[in-house]
Amino acid sequence: MYNFDEVINRQNTACLSVDALEERFGSAKLTSLWVADMNFRTPDFIMNAIRKRCEHEILGYPVAPEGYYEAIISWLKKRHRLSVNKEDVGYLPGIVPGIAYAINCYTQKGAGIVIQPPIYTPFSATINNNRRKIIYNRLALGGNHFELDLKDFEACVSKASMFILCNPHNPGGRVWTRQELEQMAAICQRHNVLVISDEIHCDLTLQGYTHAPFANVSEWARNNSITFMSSTKTFNMAGLASAFYVIPSKELRNKFQAYLCNNECAPPNIFAYTATQAAFESGEQWLNQLLPYIQGNVDFVTGYLQKNIPQVKAVKPQATYLIWLDFRALNLPQAAIRDLLAGKAKLALNDGATFGPGGEGFMRMNLARPQSVIKQALGQLKQAVQP
Ligand SMILES: Cc1ncc(COP(=O)(O)O)c(C=O)c1O
Repeated sequence: MYNFDEVINRQNTACLSVDALEERFGSAKLTSLWVADMNFRTPDFIMNAIRKRCEHEILGYPVAPEGYYEAIISWLKKRHRLSVNKEDVGYLPGIVPGIAYAINCYTQKGAGIVIQPPIYTPFSATINNNRRKIIYNRLALGGNHFELDLKDFEACVSKASMFILCNPHNPGGRVWTRQELEQMAAICQRHNVLVISDEIHCDLTLQGYTHAPFANVSEWARNNSITFMSSTKTFNMAGLASAFYVIPSKELRNKFQAYLCNNECAPPNIFAYTATQAAFESGEQWLNQLLPYIQGNVDFVTGYLQKNIPQVKAVKPQATYLIWLDFRALNLPQAAIRDLLAGKAKLALNDGATFGPGGEGFMRMNLARPQSVIKQALGQLKQAVQP
């Protein structure tokens, strides 16, 4: 029913993905496979909800409609077996801002915060910018996916006030198992460390894997964690700035809400509630069609690399439309890998080194593209690697 094969020109739409290529990569003529939004049409049920809202030609201050909460609550229950109450949920302008608020709300300057690199770049940037101390619990690339080092995790957590979990993990595409999450929760419990669980990619869990919300893994986890979620990644509406928190603990919630209030965190734009509500009310069928398409791209890339560019290995994602590519067999310094991609192959990917320790030698590719675009890109990569 939905056509993910359509190639859509995004040039001159003030979009980061394409219109910032020149500034970020030195050339506007690259194929954009970097920042995590999709080159698929934002689905009709969201666009229609926005158009309908526009028909009422007063764009004054918004207030959350009851349906906004109902849509979130029933989506979380149905898709993730996570039961939340209305009062547990609240709007945020984004997950990254939410992480910055949580750092400032719950920790002191100089506090240690554990993250698991290679990791989504803003985690470390936000910790650094707010003068807290990053504690790295490095993930190991075992077999074809990232694995936890729980012994090191405990050593890290014992020195920390907070742990920021990426569940599922970006850029590794790992869907942490319930058992792994239970183990991490037990360690955080032993050391009384607050957990921030960024679950923005949870709806993009691919076939064969099940997302376990951190708040579901134990009673302690439910009462000692803050979960950040969003409709924007799943439904390609990042430009609407609409995320939300889930905080079942009254004590933690009161503290966070007081922080938001004291800092006058801005109310949403007029489309944020409407679009999020529409996404969660009507998004199931679209998402059920999107996920196999992404899986098709993942399978295509992994198969193509194995057959045609064996020097480049893919870490197969269990969730997300992002794929972590291993260029280490080429034995090139990171700058030369960047040049190989942008300079020779004319492809704009995220530089692995920006994801912190363990990122050197890697690049992250965005597969939320029509398959024809991915095919073309891999052809260019092959030419560049094997001229
Ligand atoms: C793990 C993770 N968290 C947060 C974000 C961004 O969230 P937001 O746009 O709501 O700040 C992304 C976007 O790629 C992400 O991958």
